[in-house]
Amino acid sequence: MLTQEEVVELLNPVKDPFLHRTFEETGGVKSVTIKEEKKHVSVKVAIGKTNTAEQMQLQQEIVGILKKNGATTVGLRFEQLSDEVIQKYQPAADQDKEETLMGGAKQPHFITVASGKGGVGKSTVTVNLAMALMRLGKKVGIIDADIYGFSVPDMMGIENRPAVRGEKIIPVERFGVKVISMGFFVEDNSPIIWRGPMLGKMLNSFFKEVEWGDLDYLLLDLPPGTGDIAMDVHELLPTSKEVIVTTPHPTAAFVAARAGQMALKTNHEILGVVENMAYFESKKTGEKEYVFGQGGGEKLAEVLKTKVLGQLPLQQPYEEEDVFAPSVYQQDHPLGKEYHKIASKVVAKMEE
Ligand SMILES: Nc1ncnc2c1ncn2[C@@H]1O[C@H](COP(=O)(O)OP(=O)(O)O)[C@@H](O)[C@H]1O
Ligand SMILES: [Mg+2]
Repeated sequence: MLTQEEVVELLNPVKDPFLHRTFEETGGVKSVTIKEEKKHVSVKVAIGKTNTAEQMQLQQEIVGILKKNGATTVGLRFEQLSDEVIQKYQPAADQDKEETLMGGAKQPHFITVASGKGGVGKSTVTVNLAMALMRLGKKVGIIDADIYGFSVPDMMGIENRPAVRGEKIIPVERFGVKVISMGFFVEDNSPIIWRGPMLGKMLNSFFKEVEWGDLDYLLLDLPPGTGDIAMDVHELLPTSKEVIVTTPHPTAAFVAARAGQMALKTNHEILGVVENMAYFESKKTGEKEYVFGQGGGEKLAEVLKTKVLGQLPLQQPYEEEDVFAPSVYQQDHPLGKEYHKIASKVVAKMEE
């Protein structure tokens, strides 16, 4: 008949279904008692999360192992591992989750771009941060997750739709940046009504069913505010970091703080604040006018205990005859240069 030590030895290589670590590492086998005469083994096991389908599966696995090795009956009790153990192994578990999300492709750095409200330049910042990262030699993708207000294709002047290869959607490439947008899947720009659960599913397919290839950075343009999608993203991408966009208006900064606070609450690092529409500089006199007020970005950064990554004035990209991409600032444009600085800071922070 099995001894206690033998049972521990048999179960130690089994992996915790949530932390993806062996019981040996997590100390998952808590106690073993054996009733010789009835060949009954009872085991108490601690795992990352109890009462789940995974636990049921694990239960079968353990019972199978013990019965194969001489137990006639097996009693199993589950409890949750201590918070310390869970926290210790959580990052690895998070990464595993994201790797499967990317369908086995290289794990990129995820950056979500968020704002408290619409119209502050969140999409503009997403697109131009992506462009600047690309100019730094990075392989970059954008998910236009602003399901109601998708605008990335228009901003970049994308006219074609993604191709489909086998079961996978091939993102559209523009200036070397790979783009997937809800806008690609809507007829004639007609508005769509989404119900809560559909949003999460959509987002999931934007990862799973898209052939991203190996990316260095994947940027997500989120809908404004702290709604379902923002929550889903935080769940789906535990390692993602956040850039918060605001205008210098104190009210805008106040509203943006809420988006930032949610990131912090869900343990997502905030890379910094981008203050957009910071001022208007007169071409004639060079004078700066603070059209939307002043100091919002700085204030917001203070509240969120982070830094201002950059301040972007009000200005349109140069008009070009041969390239149509109405919201993409050229490399030699003053804003293109600002974005270059912001991207360099982001790279330094992400790859430190
Ligand atoms: N720095 C800027 N200078 C001039 N126009 C800007 C600037 N930033 C954004 N815009 C314009 O403001 C509008 C709103 O920007 P957008 O990026 O769509 O905001 P959001 O995604 O937050 O709703 C767009 O028409 C965009 O072209
Ligand atoms: Mg937008």
